[in-house]
Amino acid sequence: MTDSLRGVVLAGGTGSRLLPLTRVTNKHLLPVGREPMIFHPVRKLVEAGVTDLLVVTGVEHMGHVVGALGSGEDFGCDITYRVQQEAGGIAQALALAEPFARGGPVVAVLADNVFEDPLGPHIAGWDRRGAHILLREVPDPERFGVPVFEGQRLVRIDEKPTQPSSSFAVTGVYFYDGSVYDIIRGLRPSDRGELEVTDVNNTYLDRGALTWGTMTGWWTDAGTFETLARANRLVGG
Ligand code: DAU
Repeated sequence: MTDSLRGVVLAGGTGSRLLPLTRVTNKHLLPVGREPMIFHPVRKLVEAGVTDLLVVTGVEHMGHVVGALGSGEDFGCDITYRVQQEAGGIAQALALAEPFARGGPVVAVLADNVFEDPLGPHIAGWDRRGAHILLREVPDPERFGVPVFEGQRLVRIDEKPTQPSSSFAVTGVYFYDGSVYDIIRGLRPSDRGELEVTDVNNTYLDRGALTWGTMTGWWTDAGTFETLARANRLVGG
């Protein structure tokens, strides 16, 4: 089922909310439990049978990221790397996966997402057409992409709304078919100057091509001091 599905781990960005920790290394190399944060998404993908991975990260700490992950051999996977020249947003980082994906479907995971759910059942539940996102109920939805529902129907995703219309966050695990790159080419930078993954998802939604599921285990991002501490508590070790 997962043979041709490739995985993309997005580990660019500036990590500015974790300064000064991120002055000399990449946010995704900070410890969560007994391992660098980025090991978690890599292991989740490999456990689900996704063993052909692309890691995207910035210029500054690419060497450190390669040093931590190597060829992927230690994880049972094969890792390709691409440099995101500047932190132009999650969708810009994802666009770099186009040659790697060779027109096929991908599962993209933000490297600062740490979670309990195995990815296998979510992968099996996606028919590899359009896009599929995973939602998780959170106490602070205003920090995330937030789904807007009319009844059971998802009608829109708001990025960091001041007045969230639901208590769900869009997690950083995304499933896309090969049309995602054309969608990204059509995007304009947001007010914060980034190509937004939420705009990608809303484009799929407008085309009637976005489905969603929910994570049932714990989930957190780890991009702030508070959530980095939370991720460590949840992972334990
Ligand atoms: O964690 C889930 C949330 O992630 C979603 O709910 C939001 O819709 C989505 O926009 C994103 O929100 P953040 O503001 O938390 O994203 P952040 O800028 O912190 O980036 C998250 C990860 O994405 C980061 O750890 C690495 C990757 N990234 C980010 C940027 C800006 C890149 O690879 N390149 C980038 O240029």
